[in-house]
Amino acid sequence: MTDASRPGGFPAPIHPAPGDNHRGPCVIASGNGLKDYNGPNTVELAFKLITDGHRPVEACVRGVNLVEDDPEDMSVGYGGLPNEDGVIQLDAACMDGPLHKAGAVAALEDIKNPASVALEVLRRTDHVLLVGPGAKKFALRIGFPEQDLHTEASRKAWLDWRANLNREDKWLDADQIINFPEPWRQQSMGPPPHRGGGGSSEARAGGGASPSHPSGAGHISLDPLGNPHTYGTIHCSAVNKDTDLGCCTTTSGLAWKLPGRVGDSPLIGAGLYCDNATGSAGATGRGESVIHTLGSAWIVHAMERGLTPTEACLEACKRIVDRTHEPRMFDDNKRPRFSVTFYAVRKDGAYGSASILKGGHAAVCTDGKAQRLESEFLYE
Ligand code: GLY
Repeated sequence: MTDASRPGGFPAPIHPAPGDNHRGPCVIASGNGLKDYNGPNTVELAFKLITDGHRPVEACVRGVNLVEDDPEDMSVGYGGLPNEDGVIQLDAACMDGPLHKAGAVAALEDIKNPASVALEVLRRTDHVLLVGPGAKKFALRIGFPEQDLHTEASRKAWLDWRANLNREDKWLDADQIINFPEPWRQQSMGPPPHRGGGGSSEARAGGGASPSHPSGAGHISLDPLGNPHTYGTIHCSAVNKDTDLGCCTTTSGLAWKLPGRVGDSPLIGAGLYCDNATGSAGATGRGESVIHTLGSAWIVHAMERGLTPTEACLEACKRIVDRTHEPRMFDDNKRPRFSVTFYAVRKDGAYGSASILKGGHAAVCTDGKAQRLESEFLYE
């Protein structure tokens, strides 16, 4: 059912939500984790910047820089939780709607603002994604300072994790390894790594999330031994008065990850995507699930087909659950042990958010002052 009075002839919503009827400039971000001021501060700064005439992509990057700089946010930038070797490796990407161009960095070490480095990849190069030492070399070459990203808290969290948990925490248990028939198995592969004791299978099931607080929507949760785990991330999408779009996602990724693990945040189409003809979207939460379904690109295409931002986010959550086939990812009641939260804004200013599990929220700014938006969800 189309509604001729709605810009773009978008159909009437199947599932009405608070952001459906908003029109005009808008910034939406994840409502970041334990530090509830970070999402609101991000959207208020980004909104001010788009109002002052900055490009939406630049406004989003500068907005998330606030979170990257915050030593108390252990999910992003300075003070983020490290990989299993104790090294903080950061991922970030941004995308500019009018140019339809992106920049990204992955597994970047010793530079506190990966989102800004991603913006420079977009601005200064003909590439999209720089990784590891190459990303760091690029950042240093254009003047980003090198620094130790650990805070006392992030170092202590890693030391505690290492003292208490199995170092092979990110490997599947022997009974969870997927066995394909011969001849897939390479004869040259060595024996599986030694698995010591200590890591609970529940902690591993969702990549380290506590079963009662799976780490979606940027939340830091405590594992059964009280150590923090996070997929925490901040995403920010913006549309300005000229209906131009931009977005950015930045993260320290999955806590205690295997060195070199790259999540969804720096992958265009997965952790973020924007198309200046339609809208912009991004994700926080279990990055592997977002990568498998190309969640953000799918949301933008769903909005192009006429879904509202909230409907598109809900559909993307459902796509993930429908395409998750490993039993370890569900509890005995078939409820996912993990979560993802999506955020979206449409070109006309409508906005929305949805999570797999209840508890996600976004920060939204449409008039200079941030508001909290509870994400729709699939499971209580
Ligand atoms: N969504 C952030 C990550 O999985 O790295």
